[in-house]
Amino acid sequence: MMSEATRFAVVGDRRSFLKVSAAAALVPAWFVEECRSQEEPAPSSSPNERPHIALIGCGGRGRGIAQEASRLGNVVAVCDVDSKHAEEAAKQFKGAKVYKDFRKLLESKDVDAILNGTPDHWHTLVNLAALKANKDVYSEKPLTLTIDEGKRLVAAVRTSGRILQTGSQQRSDPRFRLVCELVRNGRIGKLTRITTILPAGPARGPFKPAPTPTELDWDFWQGQASKCEYMPERCHLWFRYWLDYSGGTMTDWGAHHNDIALWAMGLDRSGPATVEAKVLVNPIAGGFTAPAQYEVEYTYANGVRHRCLSTTADTIFGSPERGAKPEALHHGVKFEGTDGWIFVTRGRSEASDPELLTRPLAAPKVRLYVSNNHMANFFDCLRSRKAPVCEAEIGHRSASVCHLGVIALRLGRKLKWDAAKEEFVDDREANGYLTREMRRPWNYDMI
Ligand SMILES: NC(=O)c1ccc[n+]([C@@H]2O[C@H](COP(=O)([O-])OP(=O)(O)OC[C@H]3O[C@@H](n4cnc5c(N)ncnc54)[C@H](O)[C@@H]3O)[C@@H](O)[C@H]2O)c1
Repeated sequence: MMSEATRFAVVGDRRSFLKVSAAAALVPAWFVEECRSQEEPAPSSSPNERPHIALIGCGGRGRGIAQEASRLGNVVAVCDVDSKHAEEAAKQFKGAKVYKDFRKLLESKDVDAILNGTPDHWHTLVNLAALKANKDVYSEKPLTLTIDEGKRLVAAVRTSGRILQTGSQQRSDPRFRLVCELVRNGRIGKLTRITTILPAGPARGPFKPAPTPTELDWDFWQGQASKCEYMPERCHLWFRYWLDYSGGTMTDWGAHHNDIALWAMGLDRSGPATVEAKVLVNPIAGGFTAPAQYEVEYTYANGVRHRCLSTTADTIFGSPERGAKPEALHHGVKFEGTDGWIFVTRGRSEASDPELLTRPLAAPKVRLYVSNNHMANFFDCLRSRKAPVCEAEIGHRSASVCHLGVIALRLGRKLKWDAAKEEFVDDREANGYLTREMRRPWNYDMI
């Protein structure tokens, strides 16, 4: 293995030029020009100078981000509690060592950084263990399962001095950054209202237990969550619709669009003042437990009202449902102010007056962190040791606002939130949801 200093050496900046060119296709030329000077050169592409990366959680997303990382680093190890998934990943990344237990993988001195593609209920324990083993971390969103986990993680990143990037990749999409920067600089006047629209989840069930596939260690997969019989609908991909493992689309998609809402308000290290929520379609007994359709209303100390609601016009993957009209309510983020509105989603932005999006910003007071490629930003930060665009505290607060919505959906009443103390005001019942009991042997002391 090469020394850290050698492997992170910088070569040329042709790649950074290409990144800017790609961004130019999406946003006005003036915006790209202004960003050009802030672009960072990409890390070395020489095989001997590339960081050594391990993938933990080799499902759909894990293998996707590892593929992205393999352009800039060497994927030297893969780990999964499902041996079939681990083997598929090992085929994809030839020469990668295969592990089942992430703790064994983290003992390896050959690994510089991990990519965490496990389900949400595993994110924090894996991330904390990786930081303790002096590895940098790219962790999928939502960064945590509970608000308490986020507080622990932020503290661990601070004390370890390691890099942590949260996989809320809309932060590295110039279209979203442009809209946030416009809103921050008063383009739509005083911001009064934000609406985040998220794909509705599935309301399905009841499901029946099934024989556990031989390749899967179901007990390990469940980890800290309470033990139950295996059902395919609880496991790969579908875990996100069970409150034992995740928060439904409220956290799955909220970690993207609510993240943008906080960024545009400059409150991405803070949070709302109140939250109340209504379940619109109740879960089916014996089926997915996360509410499929819902409405959440947040208020902030700055007076902005933020409504987060589900839409059935889009699939859980974000594409339009078959037959859904273009003018239907599709997922994205709408900002309304005293001088107009702007809507932004993946691949599209609109405004009450198109010129709101194209007119150059004269002497903007606020310039946002420039990143046009989320994974490249992580690799840049491995070398520079600078905080990434979606560092731990931002990932934690973006997850928190979604967790607050889920807690309000569980309780069905208005809750007051102290964003500085990160606790509900005089509400023992609500504060009880800030943590979750861990099933033994899993606990924070063992890692
Ligand atoms: N950023 C994005 O746009 C985006 C998109 C999709 C998914 N995600 C996130 O990625 C994560 C994974 O989602 P997915 O759809 O790939 O799920 P998945 O079920 O396809 O994959 C998860 C994998 O983790 C494995 N796993 C579970 N516990 C493990 C453990 N303790 N150690 C090692 N491996 C373990 C599972 O066996 C499975 O192979 C989720 O948190 C999800 O929210 C993010």
